[in-house]
Amino acid sequence: KKRVAILISGRGSNMTALIDACRLPDYPAEIVGVGSNRATAPGLEIASARGLETFSLAQSQFVDRDAFDAALTQKLDAWNVDIICLAGFMRILTPDFTVRWAGRLINIHPSLLPLYRGLDTHARALADGARVHGCTVHFVTPDLDEGPTIMQAQVPVLPGDTPDTLATRILVEEHRIYPEALCLLASGTLKY
Ligand code: GAR
Repeated sequence: KKRVAILISGRGSNMTALIDACRLPDYPAEIVGVGSNRATAPGLEIASARGLETFSLAQSQFVDRDAFDAALTQKLDAWNVDIICLAGFMRILTPDFTVRWAGRLINIHPSLLPLYRGLDTHARALADGARVHGCTVHFVTPDLDEGPTIMQAQVPVLPGDTPDTLATRILVEEHRIYPEALCLLASGTLKY
């Protein structure tokens, strides 16, 4: 099985979906631990409760982003990680980090990339009058939210939708496609 680490900053619902998937028989990956850039991320407690190792690193402990990402790599190497899943990790990684992990570093983003890179994707889709919206699992490259797409899911935008109702509809799809995308990568079905 491929050894997978998940990086989070918050709630960790995608993390939980990945942990659950990895417990299915024949799933080609196992979660070896969860890291966060925020010590208070609620997802860390969920991960510990599931018996997983966790760590958190704060930017304030490091002189710059390179030092932070070097520490991150050290932690991940100590776990012998094959694949990193970003799951609500709200921090931009350095180009060096993304190049080092190229093809083994994936992210889930709450829009149909290349539409709506960055933040506040649901509010922006609504403001544009979008009729469909969704989520994307993609490889991470040095350019933010630009890497090759692995899988997408669409949902309709319905009359009366708010950013919250849209987020909830999309989150269901996120929890479905992230484990599927990781399965493709971990099984070797998918090549970078
Ligand atoms: C998810 O909707 C994820 O797509 C998004 O943050 C949320 C995290 O929720 N990620 C990004 O916006 C990345 N730029 P979760 O912590 O419950 O998985």
